[in-house]
Amino acid sequence: MMVQPDRELEREVGVNIKESFREILRNRKTTRKFSNRTLPKEPLDAILFAAFGKTHSYKNISMRTAPSAGATYPLDIYLAIEDVTGMGDGIYKYDTTAEMMKLIRPGGFFNDLKKAALDQDFISKANINLLMVYVPERIVPEYGKDSLKYAAMECGHIGQNVLLMAAALELGSVPVGAFEADKMGAILGIKKPEEVLYIISIGQIAKNTRSRA
Ligand SMILES: Cc1cc2nc3c(=O)[nH]c(=O)nc-3n(C[C@H](O)[C@H](O)[C@H](O)COP(=O)(O)O)c2cc1C
Repeated sequence: MMVQPDRELEREVGVNIKESFREILRNRKTTRKFSNRTLPKEPLDAILFAAFGKTHSYKNISMRTAPSAGATYPLDIYLAIEDVTGMGDGIYKYDTTAEMMKLIRPGGFFNDLKKAALDQDFISKANINLLMVYVPERIVPEYGKDSLKYAAMECGHIGQNVLLMAAALELGSVPVGAFEADKMGAILGIKKPEEVLYIISIGQIAKNTRSRA
């Protein structure tokens, strides 16, 4: 079926999605073989839009592409980046007010991330490792003991948005739950009670690995 490219998204983040939503859903799958090639900057912007893009305002709150319990938004997004055009390697934190990434630790950290994630090799071959960090102080006053459960649900929403955007851009992606949270937190420089809850690795798919890897 021919579908119109999403011109609005193209204007906003510079990517052109040709597939229908149904095709994107069908194409989403975990792909662990990355090619190590340089990634252009536009897919990164699109991934960020999927994760944390602002959609509209409600009662002076900027609402986003993923839902959040009581619009408390208890997650921060960090991006470890290597080999993306125009971006220095390093760890960035997404500033939701300024809607931009701020470099907080320059350098290559993918091998450290890999070690903190049970040596899962694809992590070091990705271009982007997106880390979702739980910030309890934003949600606990509202939801008490249910807060971590709600934050984990929000990770799922953001994660699925990101995985579908990666599929739409024909990038490979892996949702990663197997890691040592303390070690990951130390790499990002976060302090308890903040905690890494979920990671999505994204990279260009190595040739001849369109089947499940
Ligand atoms: C919460 C969660 C954690 C996961 N953690 C890992 C992981 O640490 N490493 C990995 O290689 N895959 C991980 N996966 C990916 C699953 O293995 C994968 O989604 C599953 O095999 C189904 O395949 P599909 O994603 O291609 O549909 C995780 C998936 C989810 C939802």
